[in-house]
Amino acid sequence: MKTIGIGIAGAQLGARMHLANYANLPKGEVDVRGVCSKNLTSAEGFAKKAGIGFATDNFDDLLARPDIDVIDICVPPALHHEFAIRAANAGKHIIMEKPLTGYFGSPGDAEPIGEHVAMSVMRKGARQNAEAIREAVQRNGVKFCYAENWVYSPPIVKMRKLIAASKGSVLEIRAEENHSGSNSKASQEWKSTGGGALLRMGVHSVGACLHLKQWEGQIRRGMPILPVAVLADTTNLIRSQASELARDAGAHRWISSNPGDVENWANLIIHFEDGSRGNVTVSDSGLGGLNTRVVAFMTDGVIKANMTANDAVETYAPDVGVFGDEYFTEKLETHAGWNRPSCDEDWFRGFAQEIADFVQALRNGTEPLAGIDLAISCVDVIYAGYQSAQEGRRIDLL
Ligand SMILES: NC(=O)c1ccc[n+]([C@@H]2O[C@H](COP(=O)([O-])OP(=O)(O)OC[C@H]3O[C@@H](n4cnc5c(N)ncnc54)[C@H](O)[C@@H]3O)[C@@H](O)[C@H]2O)c1
Repeated sequence: MKTIGIGIAGAQLGARMHLANYANLPKGEVDVRGVCSKNLTSAEGFAKKAGIGFATDNFDDLLARPDIDVIDICVPPALHHEFAIRAANAGKHIIMEKPLTGYFGSPGDAEPIGEHVAMSVMRKGARQNAEAIREAVQRNGVKFCYAENWVYSPPIVKMRKLIAASKGSVLEIRAEENHSGSNSKASQEWKSTGGGALLRMGVHSVGACLHLKQWEGQIRRGMPILPVAVLADTTNLIRSQASELARDAGAHRWISSNPGDVENWANLIIHFEDGSRGNVTVSDSGLGGLNTRVVAFMTDGVIKANMTANDAVETYAPDVGVFGDEYFTEKLETHAGWNRPSCDEDWFRGFAQEIADFVQALRNGTEPLAGIDLAISCVDVIYAGYQSAQEGRRIDLL
């Protein structure tokens, strides 16, 4: 079977995470043959470090290469739909980082758009962008792989098996993610990211809720259990009065979250057609390192999945420098005191498994576990959430 040629668009954290997991695949399955970044020096640096033979600052150069079969999209979300459509039109398969897309403004919008454009308008725009990707993928007959790593993470895989083994129903899925703030400057503005913590981080939690209820429906009654309505609240905690008081007292420096016109906290409730609920809470002003958890409350049991900070390894250090530069876990503020370093973060969080599944799907002509339907549903639910938070009411899904 031929080696699959990959071209990566983007050369920062998202791209590095994918690259590391291509490297772990059996020899000959894939070959990363090109990388593209906005900045040529950065693309060249990324290529040199990884031994990639081709670097460019022009996305068309990646598309023009006949030895590249798949475009792996790791650029900021505002470029996702445009890059996906161009890749599909060039006959390339697509691996897409989250979120699929969103609303990023149109020429008539007042700035900053997150504070001035009605969420009902944004919701329509996000839906159009998402559907345009689906249309381009279908018209060109290319594969679409949605890099939602949570559905691939071993704790969620085990959760699926346990739900299947039980005869009960999942009444509530509680999913949460928090950390002290994104590293990406693009994350601060609606026009580059399409939203704040709810879209950027909540897309994982929403993806897990939708995926698990879909799974439960398939195994219980042969069809997915779908979301029907959304209720949400969003805010910018870092601009709250509570936050200002802490700043005045000098007790603020650990939080790196710096949102512009986007929210940095959200709570979203998904109503499913069987009456059950998904309950999503996200914050990027939460200390303690990356925290990602999903709990399924069932009629006959409880399943807790923890993709970060589990106690397979625990450390104590009286001083921050004791363990030198050894990696612990993403966004942890200190290595002093008691800690729980991840022994294999990519594995626990599902990055290794998602890349392996995508490559198998591309090689065998099968469908990946996470595809375009999940990607679009996440955008629908989240933008209905934005509309709900702005209008102060429950929003029915289309
Ligand atoms: N699954 C996860 O947990 C996870 C983690 C990190 C990032 N991500 C996703 O990965 C994607 C990238 O995130 P990041 O943190 O690396 O972002 P970033 O903003 O740090 O980097 C974006 C990259 O895209 C490049 N780029 C921007 N405009 C371009 C253009 N016009 N042409 C070519 N390249 C261009 C930049 O040069 C840069 O290399 C985002 O969609 C993000 O949501 C996912």
